[in-house]
Amino acid sequence: MRIPDFKLERYFARWEFSAPYLLCTSDIEGWRMADLLALADPEARARWESLTLGYTESTGLPALREAIAGLYPGVAAEQVLTFAGAEEAVFVLVNVLLGAGDHAVVTWPGYQSLYEVARATGAEVTLLPLREEDGWALDMDAVRRALRPNTRLMVVNFPHNPTGSLPEPAVFEELCALAEERGVYLLSDEVYRLLELAPARTLPAAVERTARGVSLGVMSKAFGLAGLRVGWLACRDAELLRRCAAYKDYTTICNSAPSEVLALIALRAREQVLARSRAILEENLKRLDAFFARHAETFRWVRPRAGSVAFPRLLRDMPVATFCQELVEREGVLLLPGDVYEFPGNHFRMGLGRTQLPEALARLERFCEATFR
Ligand SMILES: Cc1ncc(COP(=O)(O)O)c(C=O)c1O
Repeated sequence: MRIPDFKLERYFARWEFSAPYLLCTSDIEGWRMADLLALADPEARARWESLTLGYTESTGLPALREAIAGLYPGVAAEQVLTFAGAEEAVFVLVNVLLGAGDHAVVTWPGYQSLYEVARATGAEVTLLPLREEDGWALDMDAVRRALRPNTRLMVVNFPHNPTGSLPEPAVFEELCALAEERGVYLLSDEVYRLLELAPARTLPAAVERTARGVSLGVMSKAFGLAGLRVGWLACRDAELLRRCAAYKDYTTICNSAPSEVLALIALRAREQVLARSRAILEENLKRLDAFFARHAETFRWVRPRAGSVAFPRLLRDMPVATFCQELVEREGVLLLPGDVYEFPGNHFRMGLGRTQLPEALARLERFCEATFR
């Protein structure tokens, strides 16, 4: 399979480990190993200490699958399949589901693999724009209009990267009902789920609402454990999961043994882990509200409804790519220009999940004052 470069990842490859102030990453500040291990219950601690570093079960450590299933009422461990991050799960599922002659509908702007892998299978893809003027809301009429007789897959991602959009529960229900009615699979990328500041806003997972729903989760974002590379699909269609498991034999075969146990520890302590993530976001959002209020002539800010990223717009007469380039060169602060999403409008992505945000924001402020006096 040939596939174009993943623009966002190429951009990060250039800057992520050289720019000192990361103001656009989508993950939550990573846990330190010792702090995570301190959360282990005695059973998980014993697993960790006696762990054998051999191959693991290809479908995932049974106790881990059970802990993941615990995130979804009514879902059993056998309805969960683990992967090396969400990225592998997307790659496998889309390859299993799509090929030449198929059609997929994917929201946009969005995480590139959600549509690029589909294109690379030979399927046709309709990108469904979310609009800033609608507060980045999902337009269900546009979704219906995009469907074709050969549509096999709809892909959404809420809370959304990069806009922080989150539909009302009734809209999400309508989407799940539509998938069911049309017999179309719904890949619901829920990697930012559980990062709603008001937990009452958390949408049900697609796997809970429709047999056509495939919920995608990961330890990287809400749990602050991107380095584990543990992700999963949860789905009630046993045959689909079986085919994904068989495809995985050609990608990673199984997860890393230490990562599985560390993920288990975090999931069992999830209230504490998530409380830490939400506290970081809450603090950073307060600072960003104040920052954007001070710079209303320079930026338009649609406050994210959930998740750890936002997609503000630069209002000044300067291409956002130049703005980001000069900022990182002069102040060492990394923002992500909307160009990497091939999305127009001078937007850039901001990340809200790092504890270094106050220093990064102070440098951004100094840069703006010097540049747009
Ligand atoms: C919407 C979305 N889906 C999937 C992924 C992939 O997650 P991971 O890198 O943990 O595999 C990301 C990562 O940024 C993402 O933003």
